[in-house]
Amino acid sequence: MKRKWWHDKVAYQIYPKSFLDTNGDGIGDLRGIISKLDYLKELGIDIVWLSPIYKSPFVDQGYDISDYYKIAEEFGTMEEFDELLEEAKKRDMYIVMDLVVNHCSDQHEWFQKALADPKGEYAGYFYFIKGKDGKAPSNYRSYFGGSAWEPVPGTDKYYLHMFAKEQPDLNWENPKLRQEIYKMINWWLDKGLAGFRIDAIINIKKDLNFPSFEPDGPDGLATCVKMVEEVQGVGELLEDMKHATFEKYDAFTVAEVFNMKDDELREFIGEDGHFSTMFDFSTHELSFSEHGWYDSREVGFEEWRDTIFASQKEVEDIGFKANIIENHDEPRGASRFLPKYAQNEAGKKMLATTSILLRGIPFIYQGQEIGMTNCRRNDISEYDDISTLDQYNEALRAGCTKEKALECCYENSRDNARTPMQWSAEKNAGFSDETPWLALNPNYTEINVEEQEHRADSVLSYYRKLVALRKDPEYKETFTYGSFIPEYTDEEKIFAFRRVSETDGKELLVAANYGEEDRTLKLDRADAKVLLTNMDICEEMEKELREKQELTIPSCGAAVLLL
Ligand code: GLC
Ligand code: CA
Repeated sequence: MKRKWWHDKVAYQIYPKSFLDTNGDGIGDLRGIISKLDYLKELGIDIVWLSPIYKSPFVDQGYDISDYYKIAEEFGTMEEFDELLEEAKKRDMYIVMDLVVNHCSDQHEWFQKALADPKGEYAGYFYFIKGKDGKAPSNYRSYFGGSAWEPVPGTDKYYLHMFAKEQPDLNWENPKLRQEIYKMINWWLDKGLAGFRIDAIINIKKDLNFPSFEPDGPDGLATCVKMVEEVQGVGELLEDMKHATFEKYDAFTVAEVFNMKDDELREFIGEDGHFSTMFDFSTHELSFSEHGWYDSREVGFEEWRDTIFASQKEVEDIGFKANIIENHDEPRGASRFLPKYAQNEAGKKMLATTSILLRGIPFIYQGQEIGMTNCRRNDISEYDDISTLDQYNEALRAGCTKEKALECCYENSRDNARTPMQWSAEKNAGFSDETPWLALNPNYTEINVEEQEHRADSVLSYYRKLVALRKDPEYKETFTYGSFIPEYTDEEKIFAFRRVSETDGKELLVAANYGEEDRTLKLDRADAKVLLTNMDICEEMEKELREKQELTIPSCGAAVLLL
């Protein structure tokens, strides 16, 4: 495998609106991000991905862009952005922006011009399609609910929006539109950006016949995913984009890809793939159901672990996936993947251990490093997310009580991850002097950076040690390029794997006990060295290994051994 500059990097996702507000408008900003670069550096972060900071009406929290060349006023100015790039560079850090080009905002100039002249040039930047029998061209349900088609006023046409109606899809078949997008991408790369996280990109290829599908819900619609799954040819568009942009800059690209076809992994992230890497959502997808949050699937430990293992094996000879526990679209990992008895500091450290040391590029989401959790709300009006609102209503329509529908939001809402970052126990968690745009999780008085900063056994301190271990010159080769070998798979509630380097023969064992009882594992050697545990029991473990060739791991314990 050809070595790339980003292979051994550790990344961090910032959700700017909720990171740190420095001017008292309740909204996080670029100044806030700049002021925390040292904090991120100390955590061991190399690559910082910013969720969208472009000009936007914020119907979908910035994933609806009205000007790709402007910074949203809420976040600051272009000068401040340039300063961020410079400050990052000084610290050997890389800035990666979100690239949202499946759709733009209905407030974007292109769309406004298209509406003003539905037969003109700009209409060709979108999908303006004639209706059928006085109805929409097809029966697609958008990702955020309701028809994916909206009438174009004054015409018999409809425009396509796979997400909200304020997010019209861009027509990638139009070479002019593609050139506009490439020009914009290169403009940012010229500024010194290291690359992009690429939003919802699989959706850019449409079946231009827009066939209807068998309805899959009481609304008589069929999810637009069906079209995405059946249409061929997204790869040609992705290659075209890569050659015209990223490739020339050796940029880092991490794609958000759902619904890829089987056997396409190599084309996507192989050595000459469309992207550097893509997120591993395999365990997040396990809980998906056909109808939405109200009937989410329960996922057991073994299914979860084995899904990660299978994904690690699948990608091993192909490339690297980007490993996450959570992001801005998902509930908090500590609330989701840990059983109740493990939802404590030990459990959070265990979850970190079995994620950060996998093969792939680790992405830490803001607040994960202090163990932030889901947040309970008493009323749907306390949420500020278009998708949560849709899922709440969907649950009510399916006959759920208000309590049950709110419970679904507590477990699944994207806002769980979007509550303001908890910097301290002070007013507004140190996030802002004024009322934050989204209410804080009340547990900030206990879970916050300030409290954990200097406490040696805090979740934050552990994350620092874990990232440092991954990047330690002694072990970096093994953690980056070493193969992945599942271990102790027959042992109940044990999550264990070996990382083995072909280059220098080093072997590391990562073992964690997700069960409620202590567990003892047999080892075939007595001389293993314990590099890290989440319970401060390295010496006890080494003694037991020497005397009995056994390793006892307490409930919620995790250990990293040099074999
Ligand atoms: C991606 C983003 C999500 C957004 C959607 C539409 O899934 O991560 O936040 O709502 O695309 O842009
Ligand atoms: Ca602000």
